[in-house]
Amino acid sequence: MTRLLITAGPTRERIDPVRFISNYSTGTFGFEIAKEAKKRGWSVTLISGPTCLKPPVGIKLIRVESAAEMLKAVKREIKKCDCLIMAAAVSDWRMKGPSKNKIKRKTGKIVLELTANPDILFEAKKTKKGAMTIGFALETEMLEENALKKLRGKRLDFIVANKLSAKKWVFGDTQSDILIMDKFGNKEYFRRRKKRELAKIVLDKVANFNI
Ligand code: CTP
Repeated sequence: MTRLLITAGPTRERIDPVRFISNYSTGTFGFEIAKEAKKRGWSVTLISGPTCLKPPVGIKLIRVESAAEMLKAVKREIKKCDCLIMAAAVSDWRMKGPSKNKIKRKTGKIVLELTANPDILFEAKKTKKGAMTIGFALETEMLEENALKKLRGKRLDFIVANKLSAKKWVFGDTQSDILIMDKFGNKEYFRRRKKRELAKIVLDKVANFNI
């Protein structure tokens, strides 16, 4: 039985007690993968950033807010798992020192100093050597080139990539186009498929993958 750890949704990085930096991720794809894995009888732990989705029945759900919280949860849970799917849209930056009090409105410009968040995939691989790792990539340009860079740079087993354009909104949509590229050089496009169907494709690839 595969013990799957999956992350989903956005992270939120606090600016002050009432404001944050985040992204448009809704967590739909990650939740679909978690539900499909559960149907297959896999042991599933889902770590999710803030979403409006209903918690899937029978799945251990750990809710987090920031990238730092997600990293901590992933490092703890990966030890009990043999496969990590990072479907979360992790915020690349956080505020350097969020304000304790609400920042008051002023006229003129305001500058927020940001600092880079750690790469959760990279840290997870260090924590659990030998775990299968799957990344996601959302690109606005050069889909294949950028996905390949991430596949190699993050030393993933495979990557699930999709492209966002002015004409094609992917966040929260139930349907999507994806490209899967693996470390052996295989690549395959799946177009206009329901995310539920794409979840099956991703898990079939996990099940048949020889690390
Ligand atoms: N990821 C991660 N930790 C981060 C940022 C991203 O583990 N701090 C993971 C994502 O969950 C995803 C993969 O890395 O599986 C690619 O994420 P993406 O945001 O597309 O790539 P980045 O590495 O952030 O690169 P860029 O934003 O420059 O495209």
